[in-house]
Amino acid sequence: MQQSDWLSQKEFSLNESNAFWTKEAEKLDWITSWKTLQSGSFNTGDIKWFEEGELNVCYNCVDRHLDKYADKTALIWEGDSPDDYKAISFDTLHKQVMRFANVLKKIGVKKGDVVCIYLPLILEAPIAMLACARIGAIHSVIFAGFSPQSIEDRVNDAASKFIITADGGFRGGKKVALKENVDIAIKNCPTVEKVLVVEHAKNDIQLEHGRDYLYHLLANEVGEQCDVEPMNAEDPLFILYTSGSTGKPKGVVHTTAGYLLYASLTHREIFGVRENDVYWCTADVGWITGHSYVVYGPLANRTTTLIYEGVPCYPAKSRFFDIVDKYQVNIFYTAPTAIRALQAEGDEAVLANTSRDSLRVLGSVGEPINREAWYWYHDKVGKSNCSIVDTWWQTETGGIMISPGFAHKQKPGSAMKSFLGIEAAILNKDTSKEISGALSAHDYGALAIKKPWPGMMRTLWGDHERYMDTYFNVYKGYYYPGDGAYRDQEGDIWISGRLDDIISIAGHRIGTAEVESVIDSHHAVAETAVIGIPDAIKGEVIYAYVTLERDSIPTDQLKKDIIAWVRKTYGPIATIKVIQWTDELPKTRSGKIMRRILRKIAHFEEAQIGDVSTLADPECVPALIEGRIDYR
Ligand code: WT7
Repeated sequence: MQQSDWLSQKEFSLNESNAFWTKEAEKLDWITSWKTLQSGSFNTGDIKWFEEGELNVCYNCVDRHLDKYADKTALIWEGDSPDDYKAISFDTLHKQVMRFANVLKKIGVKKGDVVCIYLPLILEAPIAMLACARIGAIHSVIFAGFSPQSIEDRVNDAASKFIITADGGFRGGKKVALKENVDIAIKNCPTVEKVLVVEHAKNDIQLEHGRDYLYHLLANEVGEQCDVEPMNAEDPLFILYTSGSTGKPKGVVHTTAGYLLYASLTHREIFGVRENDVYWCTADVGWITGHSYVVYGPLANRTTTLIYEGVPCYPAKSRFFDIVDKYQVNIFYTAPTAIRALQAEGDEAVLANTSRDSLRVLGSVGEPINREAWYWYHDKVGKSNCSIVDTWWQTETGGIMISPGFAHKQKPGSAMKSFLGIEAAILNKDTSKEISGALSAHDYGALAIKKPWPGMMRTLWGDHERYMDTYFNVYKGYYYPGDGAYRDQEGDIWISGRLDDIISIAGHRIGTAEVESVIDSHHAVAETAVIGIPDAIKGEVIYAYVTLERDSIPTDQLKKDIIAWVRKTYGPIATIKVIQWTDELPKTRSGKIMRRILRKIAHFEEAQIGDVSTLADPECVPALIEGRIDYR
């Protein structure tokens, strides 16, 4: 799309939004047409799209392409070792999904059941997701880097009876255990009845009779035909857990029609996908990016989508771009943290031996892309021939909400424009009023969305009240994502970061409360408060203030133990850079930890701490500054 076309589309999408969404929805294949386009509101929290319509997501991603494109490559898998790779056509994908779906039925999965998926990035991951969608089961993908505790929390929250896992995976030349993590988790998951194990790494694993089944054995016992289940537009397609600023992870629920429509539309328009493109989004299917822009969006658009099991710099520093050259990738979508990590390895090692001439569009997601990384991505990776497409969105939004898109001019660091059909506002944080004029990086407001869109989540699994309180009761009449933003003189949007207690480590959202409860559960620890501090590669990492139990001795070894404990209990993504011992945390008289003060101290901004008279013991502040560790 040219920019002028995009502008007229944008106008149409906002002025005649019903006609716009109707036109887009007609691009999907429906079994029964919908009766009501949209109902419900942000105030009542009962949003529905395409009521009474029926369709099947798997059919839309696979079956409908078979007529003319059966032989087109649907998925390319590149293993951890460059010698391991496979490509499958839409026809083969169709057959494998049907077989997988029949195996799910055989172990007792029924429409509406929640199936947890804990797999490495192998072909069976998208196949399992599509198989669930085909028979109307709700998948809940758990990132394979998560710990047994995280599996346990997610399985129990959704009372899931089924887990799909693998005997292991490969990352950077090493084998990763997966089934063992499931075995540990399952001890505390009373609802689990069946575990399906895909063979991949040939790890030694234990199988429990009557509970654990090897996929390939069952696959031989079932047929290759499996009809699609007609699903209501509003039936849940999947649950995906994401961190909140307090408490346990939230089970974000996405539904069938609205989600698929929004994922496919944004994928098509924002990246400007063409028929013969090879498209590679580096996200794992354990995150929303992997759901919307590895699996559902691309496949609904019959785009060839690539998945890579390994890590960016193995066996060579140039691995990412070796893969780009090997498959002639046209669209590449990754995160600023990966861009910065590659940049830090040096151009010689990362870029010199690759051509990257096939690239046309370079996407970025997860956090604001800093100027330095933007220019390296644009000038070096893309040789100044590609558009850089920043994309702001969230697990909750289902798809990209703010992005320059390939049709726009380039503005390093700005996410720029709300997408077709989406109206964004910036609110004054104190008065809740919309700000129409320009602001600056130091004077941002709260980002908000003004009207329902098809791809938005409909609820949090089992906790609709938390859904309302977190997203709709903060600023009445608006969807509040928790981010700050400002508009520049030209009306372009810049995202300034989270406004709540969420730390973004390598683009992954981590709730301070979750990490604190893990550190608190260490036997030597009495109390903890964690803060995000800047990191050149990961964006943010953790600065932890820890108060020990009276009889514990503060040693460097204990710091190492606590860091290892968090890696094991939460998962390696929770990177702790600094632990500062403290006898006391700053608290109000009612016992609330004053994070604001801890943040100022950890950021070396003690001059701005301001009034501490509301603290129960103001004397703890100088002691905290005194004991601060200089990580800079
Ligand atoms: C949070 C959502 C969307 C998939 C990846 C993360 C931050 C995401 C950007 C961007 C600035 C961004 C926001 C958002 N974020 N993309 N392009 N520019 N910030 O999904 O785990 O749900 O996290 O990531 O803070 O709220 P998520």
